[in-house]
Amino acid sequence: MKPGTFASYALTALLLSVAYAEDHHHHEEQPICRKLYYPNADFAIALYKRLNAQTAAGQNTFFSPLGISTALSMLSAGASGETHSQLFSTLGYSTLNQTQVNNAYENLLHMLGQSHENEQLDVGNAVALRSNFSPKENYLTAVRSHFSSEIFKVDLSKPDNAAAEINKFVANKTHDKIKDAVKDIDPDMAMMLINYVYFKGEWATRFSYELTHKADFHVNATATVQVDMMQNMGPFEIYRDAENHTTVIQLPYKGNTFMMIVLPNEGKMEEVEGYISRDYVRHWHRSVQTRCVNLFMPKFSISADYSLENTLREMGITDAFEDKADFSGLSDAANLKVTKVSHQAVLNVDEFGTEAAASTTVEISLKIGCFSREIKVNRPFFVFIVEKPTRSLLFMAKINDPTAA
Ligand SMILES: *[C@@H]1O[C@H](CO)[C@@H](O)[C@H](O)[C@H]1NC(C)=O
Ligand SMILES: *[C@@H]1O[C@H](CO)[C@@H](O)[C@H](O)[C@H]1NC(C)=O
Ligand SMILES: *[C@@H]1O[C@H](CO)[C@@H](O)[C@H](O)[C@H]1NC(C)=O
Ligand SMILES: *[C@@H]1O[C@H](CO)[C@@H](O)[C@H](O)[C@H]1NC(C)=O
Repeated sequence: MKPGTFASYALTALLLSVAYAEDHHHHEEQPICRKLYYPNADFAIALYKRLNAQTAAGQNTFFSPLGISTALSMLSAGASGETHSQLFSTLGYSTLNQTQVNNAYENLLHMLGQSHENEQLDVGNAVALRSNFSPKENYLTAVRSHFSSEIFKVDLSKPDNAAAEINKFVANKTHDKIKDAVKDIDPDMAMMLINYVYFKGEWATRFSYELTHKADFHVNATATVQVDMMQNMGPFEIYRDAENHTTVIQLPYKGNTFMMIVLPNEGKMEEVEGYISRDYVRHWHRSVQTRCVNLFMPKFSISADYSLENTLREMGITDAFEDKADFSGLSDAANLKVTKVSHQAVLNVDEFGTEAAASTTVEISLKIGCFSREIKVNRPFFVFIVEKPTRSLLFMAKINDPTAA
């Protein structure tokens, strides 16, 4: 992450997605994806709290909750037993089954995919498959139909090339905002689940470039940094929640999305951060009223890069990373476990609008490194056939020429 600046903006990105879900409440019939709103919002905030706790003071926290929930849901579609229950319980889906979650994502992705003028929102998934690994056809069908996944093969005999190919895919989908989603690939990788989110929105009311000026931003009680402060006068949806020490501003983009900024009062960030939950966000979203204000907001550009394995373990997803992992929905033959969960996100906010992108990759590898450790039985060898309980050597052979009768 870049050196810290905008501590007060730490919550913005998270809220963007939580509030986004709220926005869909206004649809006529209740869409199936509604089932995901509360669990995904709760997961977002729980994950925020974990990530923020690991972030050095003064640094920013930024991620795509939707991207991570989606990637882990694709993973759970191939998981069984305890591995599946842990994923579902952490994602907040305990009252649902995988079929319901699959259908909800299909519906959600369809709804997110409906284009709006002046706004671009691309959320999509892919599976990068090792060329000599074939997962269960059922699984591929499920990720194709419910998660709109593209499926492509990569040649793991050259892991660097495979990584480059995956990075090219993500770069293309994120308009070059994320160019190195994958750094190194486990030579034993069997497959990688990929999620990308790309958003570009233009403010409904743009900030005027002429009004942008240098101004102080107070990182904390003692430290101040200089920022390019944008200025915009206008009716905005705001709410001053004195009791909860917060001011809320909703800035709409042209189209169907808005940014919700939650600005804790001076010195109250930690307190607000402590109690923030889906209920507060909903309360704020419902309480805003249109008021004329002169808004000063910094222009900024931040990025973040996370390895999520330990965070997800702390949140209860443990078996997926261990030898007892049960991905029998993915493959009968291979013993698979998750070896990496990586997340990258970038956010640019300026006078014109916002551009944000994120990638989540879930690397799934063989528990024992079979792929990289090749053994070719192509010269004379011995065979012992042993009965285990009695350790009896039933047969023994030396094969010099397998074609000789
Ligand atoms: C304020 O922020 C600066 C820069 O990030 C840091 O060095 C300092 O320790 C912080 N002070 C407090 C009181 O948190
Ligand atoms: C999932 O739950 C739905 C609704 O309760 C039910 O109709 C369906 O049969 C369940 N599917 C599976 C595979 O358990
Ligand atoms: C992504 O690749 C497709 C197909 O090669 C191309 O048409 C498209 O312009 C690319 N998009 C970006 C943003 O580079
Ligand atoms: C503070 O937040 C709580 C929880 O969302 C809400 O019930 C309460 O009304 C808020 N206070 C004010 C003054 O809005």
